[in-house]
Amino acid sequence: MTLRKLAFQTRGHGRPVLLVHGFPFHRAQWEAQVEALAKHALVITADLRGFGESAFESGFDPGVSTMEQHADDLAALLDEAGIQEPVTFVGFSMGGYVAFPFFNRHRRRLAALALCDTRAIADTPDGAAGRATMAAKVLAEGPKPLVDGMLPKLLAPQTLAGRPEVVERVRALMQAPRGAIAAALRGMAQRPDSTPLLARIDVPTLVVVGEHDAIASPAEMRGIANAIRGSQFVQITGAGHMTTHETPEELSRALVQFVTKA
Ligand code: MLT
Repeated sequence: MTLRKLAFQTRGHGRPVLLVHGFPFHRAQWEAQVEALAKHALVITADLRGFGESAFESGFDPGVSTMEQHADDLAALLDEAGIQEPVTFVGFSMGGYVAFPFFNRHRRRLAALALCDTRAIADTPDGAAGRATMAAKVLAEGPKPLVDGMLPKLLAPQTLAGRPEVVERVRALMQAPRGAIAAALRGMAQRPDSTPLLARIDVPTLVVVGEHDAIASPAEMRGIANAIRGSQFVQITGAGHMTTHETPEELSRALVQFVTKA
């Protein structure tokens, strides 16, 4: 595997908080939350391999990007940034899938965990097969079929119907090279079931979900919270999957409260 460093940015001062974006986004997904959190903490946002400015063209081997590779990339990034203090890892959706191997492989780097709109279970065989088909389609045709198929699942019905500026902002964020999208789809399809790991999580944990999340349902996320000893569960009214954009203030408030207490 070619060695390549992730693109990242830091803002603010204090205890480190690492914000890890979802698929197929990049670090700009966290714009609103960076603004709020940087008043209280040192906020690090990174582009996962292939996304944003961490493009494959700059040196990553395409094919498959596993959640374990992403976790190791992030640990290397913390070394690169000179951050030795354990971080609060905030993972949104695919970023949450990465949080589990990060806990497994880099436990000493972790002070607290926030799981936003994510899942612990693996893909079903049908789900994994659908990702393989979509990976081939994106390689052949570009990201449009993925974006068109995903948007209705990312946003609550009322957002889709009545907030065109949010729809367009989310659509604009869903841009990545074909190879990066295909590799991430294959990596997500391969991820193991992290449910057995939940009972071992021994850091303060926040679990956040949008009321209408069609990808990581509130019931499923409540189950994650129930399995993590002492965790806190927050359900945000009115949001679908994209709490970062549909309810940015509510998500920021929950994260700030967690980060300043954890
Ligand atoms: C995400 O927001 O990261 C994706 O919805 C995750 C997924 O496709 O499972």
